[in-house]
Amino acid sequence: MTSMSDTASASPMAVTPLRAGALLDARAADTPARLDLGPVLRAYQAYGAVLLRGLDLDRRGFKDFTERFLDRFMDYVGGADNDRSSAYGDDNTVLTVTGGAVAKLAVPLHGEMFYTQPRPAALFFCCITPAAERGETTLCDGVALWNALPAAIQNRFDAQKIQYRRIYDRDTWHKVYRSDDLAQVEQRCADAGLGLRARDDGGIEVTHVCHAWLPTTAGKAFVNSILPWAAREYVAGMADSEVRFEDGSELPVDMLYEIHGIADELTQNVDWQPGDVALVDNRRFMHGRRAYDDLRRDIIMRLGAAPLEGAAGG
Ligand SMILES: [Fe+2]
Repeated sequence: MTSMSDTASASPMAVTPLRAGALLDARAADTPARLDLGPVLRAYQAYGAVLLRGLDLDRRGFKDFTERFLDRFMDYVGGADNDRSSAYGDDNTVLTVTGGAVAKLAVPLHGEMFYTQPRPAALFFCCITPAAERGETTLCDGVALWNALPAAIQNRFDAQKIQYRRIYDRDTWHKVYRSDDLAQVEQRCADAGLGLRARDDGGIEVTHVCHAWLPTTAGKAFVNSILPWAAREYVAGMADSEVRFEDGSELPVDMLYEIHGIADELTQNVDWQPGDVALVDNRRFMHGRRAYDDLRRDIIMRLGAAPLEGAAGG
């Protein structure tokens, strides 16, 4: 029986630290069903994100493999990308992340569903088909990013929480919440600690107030949805999303560009190969995507409802 230690140089699963996260070489595993999860979880705990190469997972393989880690996955009710669809039959916990209204565009770094509650604790990505060029998923360690921010920026996010406000017209909230029952959606938002205001035109506004960072055992992690929300409002000129400080003041655009620049220096591009799988701690890491042209790009994901067991602090 071979040792599955992830520290010995003779390990069958070599760990290569990346600019953010780590790459694990799982080619020696004879089957994903028997891969020793211990080294994977230890690397996940140490690095916050793990790219597993060599398991050659397909859609079914990804579904089965992720269920070795967790038995509870979230659907995407309440998620902002209302074109997101199931990537595996009628199982609405296996999601496609390509296609929809924003196909091909770059997506700035963000924590998944950080503008709302509940949020996934862990993310699983799987590459079915990479883009021919570009289209990398991006990963950034929120702890490293927080530590790299100037004190003046840290102080602003310590002093004030941020507020996400999403404005949905009637058709959109029916789709996002998969319901046309306002009372039911009000209850759902109240249960999650979200503010909801019904508009005279049949639309709703949903607000969520939280810090821009999360506490972790390694210190504060800058994890939030600020950058894509600001891009949506200030770059794309869309009027359906706003992110502000809690007192309603705008986040200065030059500060946002400064954060974006610092984050980019710390970002790892995931150069996908078919069958790769990535595990990402959504309470420590942000992820995003580089732009691409190839519409064959097919990346799927699952949202883990709980932290990965054996990966405390994640
Ligand atoms: Fe995302």
